[in-house]
Amino acid sequence: MIRIEQVQKFYQVGRGGVGAQVQALRDINLQIEQGKIFGIIGRSGAGKSTLLRTLNLLERPSSGKILIDGADITQFDAEQLHGLRQRIGMVFQHFNLLSAKTIAENIDFPLKLAGSYSKEQRRQRVDELLDLVGLADQRDKYPAQLSGGQKQRVGIARALANYPTLLLCDEATSALDPETTQSILRLLSDINQKLGLTIVLITHEMQVIRTICDQVAVIDAGEIVETGDVADVFLHPKHTVTQSMVAENLALDLDVLQIRKERENGLLIRLTYVGAAAHEPILSRIAAQTQVQMVILQGTISRIKNTPYGQLLVELIGSSDEINTVLVSLRAADVRADVLGLSGSKY
Ligand SMILES: Nc1ncnc2c1ncn2[C@@H]1O[C@H](COP(=O)(O)OP(=O)(O)OP(=O)(O)O)[C@@H](O)[C@H]1O
Ligand SMILES: [Mg+2]
Repeated sequence: MIRIEQVQKFYQVGRGGVGAQVQALRDINLQIEQGKIFGIIGRSGAGKSTLLRTLNLLERPSSGKILIDGADITQFDAEQLHGLRQRIGMVFQHFNLLSAKTIAENIDFPLKLAGSYSKEQRRQRVDELLDLVGLADQRDKYPAQLSGGQKQRVGIARALANYPTLLLCDEATSALDPETTQSILRLLSDINQKLGLTIVLITHEMQVIRTICDQVAVIDAGEIVETGDVADVFLHPKHTVTQSMVAENLALDLDVLQIRKERENGLLIRLTYVGAAAHEPILSRIAAQTQVQMVILQGTISRIKNTPYGQLLVELIGSSDEINTVLVSLRAADVRADVLGLSGSKY
């Protein structure tokens, strides 16, 4: 269990202590449970990397506490800190591999540094890790000979070498195409399941959060503005920053713009609900109680981690009072209803 308590971080800009300060983190309080995948999402410059790097003290907080299994790591001496860093692996956006070393040597590097394994133990461990990330046949190649996704697999294997209990990922998939991103996210999810280690990842993509995270915190201008289970935050975002990031992500699944042009005269709404089949009884019950005509234009089933959720693009035709009643009934049934606007080509 990790607890971040009232953490602040100021960066000094300018020289000799006379320059201005930038506040990168403001009163951060977070709790991260053992064995979970915890995501931190925010726009560029929000403070994600700074926050992530306080967890292994690559950045030291200006004030506040970071408790890992009850011990405040900001009070650790050099030896304790060394031990801590052995138990924390880190994966980087640009892989940070050693270009003059082979894949096997890159993965061996942290084992060598640890100084506590025999040559034979190291060789076995490297083989095990190569198998785990699916690169057994690439061991003698150099990083330049691998694809981005393969390089990140090496980065992950290296991060896992010393049996960490915590894995930190700084935008681990941001340099990869969508398909490769999915395969790396699957790998991280498998590792979390198989090894039971805690993963804290930062990203600016809601898609990453939605694919593998259990919990999420949203950071904006150095502050946590929202936190909770991914399904809750995703379906009922409270803060405007979260709402806009969720809306961008949901928009990927439905062909709203095209359909809006094709339709004539109604109000377009998007319904989002958890559970693959939950919508039908709700919609038919509500349809039976109203004069509003409800036309289903498109539907998709997607996933939030392992939970299926559905989206429907629906056109409502009727008086504005009646339409309002429909929206209230939908929301009362725990269906998220976003009004997308009027249909018709002039919009
Ligand atoms: N070493 C530093 N010195 C001074 N200011 C810094 C330093 N590192 C970060 N900052 C500032 O702190 C704020 C948070 O930066 P941080 O790198 O944590 O953001 P981020 O959310 O990771 O952004 P990105 O998505 O672009 O990586 C920014 O305003 C940034 O300019
Ligand atoms: Mg960053």
